[in-house]
Amino acid sequence: MTLSGMARVAGVMGWPVGHSRSPALHGHWLEVYGIDGAYVPLPVHPDRLGAALKALPALGFAGVNLTLPHKEAALVHLTRTDDVARRIGAVNTVVVREGELEGSNTDAFGFIENLRGGAPTWQPLLGAAVVLGAGGAARAVVVALLDAGVAEIRVLNRTPERAVRLARDFGGALKSLDWNARAHALADVNLLVNTTSLGMAGQPELDIALDRLPSHAVVNDIVYVPLNTKLLTAARARGLVAVDGLGMLLHQGRPGFHAWFGRDPDVTTALYTRLAATIPTASATP
Ligand code: ATR
Repeated sequence: MTLSGMARVAGVMGWPVGHSRSPALHGHWLEVYGIDGAYVPLPVHPDRLGAALKALPALGFAGVNLTLPHKEAALVHLTRTDDVARRIGAVNTVVVREGELEGSNTDAFGFIENLRGGAPTWQPLLGAAVVLGAGGAARAVVVALLDAGVAEIRVLNRTPERAVRLARDFGGALKSLDWNARAHALADVNLLVNTTSLGMAGQPELDIALDRLPSHAVVNDIVYVPLNTKLLTAARARGLVAVDGLGMLLHQGRPGFHAWFGRDPDVTTALYTRLAATIPTASATP
């Protein structure tokens, strides 16, 4: 629709930003709800992140999403950050309110909403979770699982120091285990989450034997390029509930859209299909 002079404007800052699917996501919602608003890609060099954020109120922006490499660096440029963003140590959503910049992180929300939607039988209080990886994505997943009430989270990472640090940062519910023990770590867990880049197009495959996973376990890969990773295919072949990573991307966009454009948007099959169509079918390097 044609934008009026009153149009609400938001966008995504990244460097590069061309790969971001957020313009397609928010553009879909703006179109479906007929909102007088726009959501634009904003290529912002890391050296200019502070200046770009500071300019948002003057430009009349309602806010922005942040993607690589800005999510951690943005923290110091904001007026306020919420508790979840501080625990994760990264911001992905900025809302301009009365000239001030409020930062939050909606990745944990997106993760748990996607998991609950894709695996309604998963019960956080019954069983341990295994998280593969210890980067920024793992931190968001750990925060979501802790807030959902998971009592034991086993973190395994190729570089053990990062898993140890993650466990130390989040306290008693987390245990760091050796990366080579990943198949053994699956006994008695009811959730396995891959937050590493393994299995992503152009990256090596994730090599893990799933035979110790109980039959009620859920497997969630946050990799969504390709949509059906080898991990998810192997989980389905064992009859396990498998949840792909695209839904996390869709749900993490909801709080920002709500704050900027005034409506909590729906994650529908039509939206999922539209975004899924943008994902190449290329697979990881065997
Ligand atoms: P993000 O912020 O998306 O989590 P990241 O911090 O780069 O990104 O984390 C990538 C994760 O994938 C890390 O856990 C990384 O393990 P290391 O900490 O050892 O680097 C993991 N990863 C990447 N390539 C891997 C590989 N070939 N084998 C095992 N783990 C790998």
